[in-house]
Parts: sequence; structure tokens; C-alpha cells
Amino acid sequence: MTRISASILSADFSDLGKQVEDVVTAGADWIHIDVMDGHFVPNLTFGPVIQKASRPRTTAPFDTHLMVTNPDDLLEDFVKAGSDYITVQVETCPHLHGTLNRIRELGAMSGVAINPHTPLSTIEYVLDDMDLLLVMTVNPGFGGQGFIESLLPKISRARNMIDDHGGEILMEVDGGVKPTNADQVVAAGADALVAGSAIFGDQRLAENVAALKESAARGARGL
Ligand code: DX5
Ligand code: ZN
Repeated sequence: MTRISASILSADFSDLGKQVEDVVTAGADWIHIDVMDGHFVPNLTFGPVIQKASRPRTTAPFDTHLMVTNPDDLLEDFVKAGSDYITVQVETCPHLHGTLNRIRELGAMSGVAINPHTPLSTIEYVLDDMDLLLVMTVNPGFGGQGFIESLLPKISRARNMIDDHGGEILMEVDGGVKPTNADQVVAAGADALVAGSAIFGDQRLAENVAALKESAARGARGL
């Protein structure tokens, strides 16, 4: 079944612990934590302290997405703050193999995110070192952006690459995922969907997670 990873970027930060609890009760499988540094992306969000404060509020996996220029410096702090997955942007990692193995050594699952323009060939030689591939379908930085439709073939190609490799890598898709397109994203091969504004936008958490799951299930059956 497709996992739904709720991005707290669109949550009510004045009540973050309760939002984390409520979205898991609403059916979200993972909590997606968008860490932005104002350098790699224009926006600035939060660091490990905020993640740590939310950690006791749920047992759901924390799916930490580092959109920062210096991910290596932050890995240990985020593992200590409860990350289950740590995903780094390939564009920020000159020594990606080393970074992914460091994440595993620290006890978390290793993920690689690739921007819309970044070719899949950038991960070809680290497939053995990664547990998660995060395909970005917006330019990272902000919630609420439109899904870039022209990336659907890239999602399918990424699926084939993972399947040909034969490992246990999960593929997650992040950016502009809504009930209106989740079916297509899952049909293209996604195992997990990140959704921020589609879940927290109007705060009807249970209805919104259910709508995403229904659409994903349609996509899994074939469009
Ligand atoms: C974008 C972030 C996404 C974002 C998704 O930079 O990485 O995780 O929160 O938000 P929506 O679902 O609103 O596009
Ligand atoms: Zn993200």
C-alpha cells in the first residue's frame, strides 16, 4: 500500500506537536520534515531542535528531507533528534557515497533527493547505498507549488532503474501531490507520496489523507 508522508511544512506551527499527532490519527504513515537553510533553497525552516520536540508525539517514522548546502554537518544531530530516514539532495553532496554510508552508520535509512532537472544517472553508482529515492516534482523551497507534469516519465524511468537494480529501495515523490494526480504518480511507480498543502491546507486532515489514499489505490490498480 502506498505510504503517505505528511509534510509539516504546511502545518500550523503554533501547535506543531498536536498537528503531528492528529495527522497520524488521520491516517498518515510518515511525517515528512522539510529542513531548509536559506542557501540551497531560498526559504528557511527549522533544525533538529524542532524535530526533537515533535518526536515524542508519535511513533510514526520521521522522514527528514535536508535541503541544505552542508548536510554532512547535520546528520548526527538529526539522527539524535529521531530521524528514521534522512534524505540529502544529490546536488549538495560531492561525496554522496560517503554521506549515504554515514547516514546508515548513524542508524538511519539513507535517502537521495533529485531536483526536477537532475538526471537519474547521478544516482546510478550509489543504488547499493540508498534506501530511498525522493523524486522532486517541484523546485524545492516552498509548499503549495504546482506539480510539474512533464516529470511523470522520469518517475517511471526511476521505477525501472530501481527494479532493474533489484534492491529494496523505496521511491517517494515530493511536490504538488494532490488527490487529482496521486493516481498518476502511483501508476508511474511511486511507493510513497509526500503531501503538505493537500493535507494541512484546510485542516480537514482525515478527509484529505483519505482522498490521497483513494487516489493512490486507483493508481495502484492501474489507471
Ligand atoms: C518542497 C518540499 C515539499 C513540500 C511539499 O520544497 O520539499 O516537501 O513541503 O509541499 P506540497 O505538498 O504543498 O507541494
Ligand atoms: Zn520535502
